[in-house]
Amino acid sequence: MAVELRGISKRYGQVLALENVDFTLERGEIVGLVGDNGAGKSTLMKVLSGAVRPDSGSFAVDGQPVNPGNPIGAREAGVEMLYQDLSLVDDLPTVMNVFLGRELTTRFGFLRFGEMRRHAQGIVDGFSVRGFSVTQPVGQLSGGQRQVSAIARSIGFGSRYVILDEPTSALSPNARQEVVEIISGLARSGIGVVMVSHDLATVRQICSRVAVLHLGRLAGVRAMTDTTQQELVSLIVDGHA
Ligand SMILES: Nc1ncnc2c1ncn2[C@@H]1O[C@H](COP(=O)(O)OP(=O)(O)OP(=O)(O)O)[C@@H](O)[C@H]1O
Ligand SMILES: [Mg+2]
Repeated sequence: MAVELRGISKRYGQVLALENVDFTLERGEIVGLVGDNGAGKSTLMKVLSGAVRPDSGSFAVDGQPVNPGNPIGAREAGVEMLYQDLSLVDDLPTVMNVFLGRELTTRFGFLRFGEMRRHAQGIVDGFSVRGFSVTQPVGQLSGGQRQVSAIARSIGFGSRYVILDEPTSALSPNARQEVVEIISGLARSGIGVVMVSHDLATVRQICSRVAVLHLGRLAGVRAMTDTTQQELVSLIVDGHA
């Protein structure tokens, strides 16, 4: 059971953002995706979430081919992406952010608010984070709680693979540790997680594998037990170890 991207290339005008990149993610593992600014990380993850159609390459989820460049197809295959800005609506409570665009309604079109609230609160309470009410507007939540709200939205609908773009940037050490525990919990529950990050310490703490992009090419993939900080820095900076 895995997500598989093979031979992905994507050009933007003069820039070859991705060149023949392979990437896999198994259920229950956390893979770090690292690389310098402009290395192609976000572009690769947008291919994985269907937001960007590659010029060439193939995409399969759990052995089934997925039509590249189709966000609905990727989501139906179980892949969800959390963007760096989290794309939360600050004026709405967590519960409505979780159900945004897929609200539960009665057959007369009324919102089934109680049911949505119980579902969202159940997800949030499942995390080891200091609890908060899903009826509070997300604009009033802490950075860590906002991250939890966004994660709750991404896993609330049975997704099996989650892409997190810089989930721990702009968080205090405490909130970062909480988010790290949540991500570990997602993996233990069988979800495959890709964590795009510039934070090598956190990547080394929680990822079992790490993939390094350099100027659009895959510089290397390493098991975390099989690499060093120095090797990762060389891969990131020079594109080779
Ligand atoms: N929509 C676009 N149009 C034109 N060029 C783009 C577009 N998206 C990305 N690029 C270019 O493709 C390359 C890879 O960009 P990408 O955003 O994937 O990098 P990144 O690794 O996510 O960088 P960062 O760490 O800064 O987020 C860059 O040179 C970027 O300028
Ligand atoms: Mg990026």
